[in-house]
Amino acid sequence: MQDLSNLRKEYTQAQLTIDSLEKSPILQFQKWFDQALKAAILEPNAMVLSTLDNENVPSQRTVLLKYFNHLGFVFFSNYTSRKAQHLDTNPNASLLFPWYALERQVILIGKVERITIEESKAYFFNRPYGSQLGAWVSKQSSVIKSRQVLEDRLSELKQKFPQGKVPFPDFWGGYRLVPNNIEFWQGGANRLHDRILYKEIESEWSIARLSP
Ligand SMILES: Cc1cc2nc3c(=O)[nH]c(=O)nc-3n(C[C@H](O)[C@H](O)[C@H](O)COP(=O)(O)O)c2cc1C
Repeated sequence: MQDLSNLRKEYTQAQLTIDSLEKSPILQFQKWFDQALKAAILEPNAMVLSTLDNENVPSQRTVLLKYFNHLGFVFFSNYTSRKAQHLDTNPNASLLFPWYALERQVILIGKVERITIEESKAYFFNRPYGSQLGAWVSKQSSVIKSRQVLEDRLSELKQKFPQGKVPFPDFWGGYRLVPNNIEFWQGGANRLHDRILYKEIESEWSIARLSP
């Protein structure tokens, strides 16, 4: 058995104090997101979405954050996928940003809702041609015989929908996670990490420090 017990690193990049953080977790997230962009870490907008099925069995997958503001955090997906089925029956979900290069993680918990079709359309028609076709090609999360099935379907769709003429797929669109719980984690020396938790109570954000 491979011994991984020596795979460890001291975290020394930064410290968090409640006073140094924004009162709004959304502004604090914006600050950290800008720093992640500036640090040129791989896929700074990649986040792990966790959902529960109708028997409360969890599953996770990476999705890309496309925009965020005080209303919530928006990603796009297929509305017939496994995650979609989960969210249809249980809107409770979490998002985790694994910004290890910065010795950071951010975890958001809340409910997920579908964005409006108009909002999804606005995003879809700004996607590159290949991504627009991609949304049509994949019956996400269903079993397929081979990769060839996808290649054939893509060729078919390219004939059917030339560039600039790809219609909006009504089985695809955006989701918005509306957080009521946001934790900022910063690695610290000797495993004394900083954890600051924002909780929304009656439209106000409370801030507390958690033990690491
Ligand atoms: C870096 C990365 C980004 C991804 N972005 C998305 C995304 O924005 N939307 C999406 O539906 N799937 C995305 N995926 C694929 C998902 O992780 C997942 O395989 C897919 O959504 C099916 O998940 P499900 O079967 O649980 O519904 C991404 C995967 C990776 C590794």
